[in-house]
Amino acid sequence: MLKQIPENYQPAPNLLEGRSILITGAGDGIGAAAARTYAAHGATIILLGRTVKKLEHVYDQIVKAGHPQPAIYPMDLEGARDSDYFELADNIDKEFSCLDGLLHNAARLDSLMPLEQYDLKIWARLMQVNLTAPFLLTHACLPLLKKSADASVMFTSSRVAHHGRAYWGAYGVTKAGCDNLMQILADEVENHTNIRANSIDPGAVRTRIRRQAYPAEDASLLPVPEDVMPAYLYLMGPDSREYTGEIFSV
Ligand SMILES: NC(=O)c1ccc[n+]([C@@H]2O[C@H](COP(=O)([O-])OP(=O)(O)OC[C@H]3O[C@@H](n4cnc5c(N)ncnc54)[C@H](OP(=O)(O)O)[C@@H]3O)[C@@H](O)[C@H]2O)c1
Repeated sequence: MLKQIPENYQPAPNLLEGRSILITGAGDGIGAAAARTYAAHGATIILLGRTVKKLEHVYDQIVKAGHPQPAIYPMDLEGARDSDYFELADNIDKEFSCLDGLLHNAARLDSLMPLEQYDLKIWARLMQVNLTAPFLLTHACLPLLKKSADASVMFTSSRVAHHGRAYWGAYGVTKAGCDNLMQILADEVENHTNIRANSIDPGAVRTRIRRQAYPAEDASLLPVPEDVMPAYLYLMGPDSREYTGEIFSV
């Protein structure tokens, strides 16, 4: 059963004060909006992504707005090896000593195509970036999340995860896999009441991925990333403490 956040949810201005939060794919689209929004609510953000210029732009926006100074961590999730994830966790440990939030947001779509013609390279790449990377990152960061008094791990789902749809191939499979990974994690850390894991399905949002999937639609009619931020705040902050193992849809 998909869940929804409370109607007219109003996050406290200091909702995430003092928290350190790692966001993947923080340079563009929903990830960039989440970075700015979480920072505006008091969090220190670790901006992870593969395009340094985009990360620097988000960094500048956060600093200019007077929010806590973020950190930039360039990383290409396609080529990263397990040792890279442990190195990242080590660096976070040294700088922040714990991790209060982890938003698995980065993903690729590439192109939609029928299974019969599916490009095997694209299949492998999407598995790596959309599913294996969230696993490796969670695996490396768990000791840091355990040190937090209230940690939230968010995975990013999609409408095509809940029911398989023609042509969505590896993207759909990785999104369904992320929901399953989230539930496994939630079940395993149940006794660590300080960690919870949930998925968020943002719905249709005006970003590059959406454009790739629906190039002919009128994008001006779609919500922008900022419009879905109340749900991202709700799930990252303490107001959703009672939930773990759930899929929320916007
Ligand atoms: N927009 C929608 O309608 C919609 C609907 C359902 C779910 N979602 C999900 O929402 C999340 C955010 O997507 P979006 O819509 O905001 O699309 P987006 O603007 O294309 O953002 C995707 C982000 O992932 C990053 N990324 C891709 N490959 C990467 C790699 N190898 N290493 C590191 N980072 C990488 C991109 O970095 P670069 O910019 O540097 O390439 C970008 O920051 C995704 O998980 C997506 O599946 C979106």
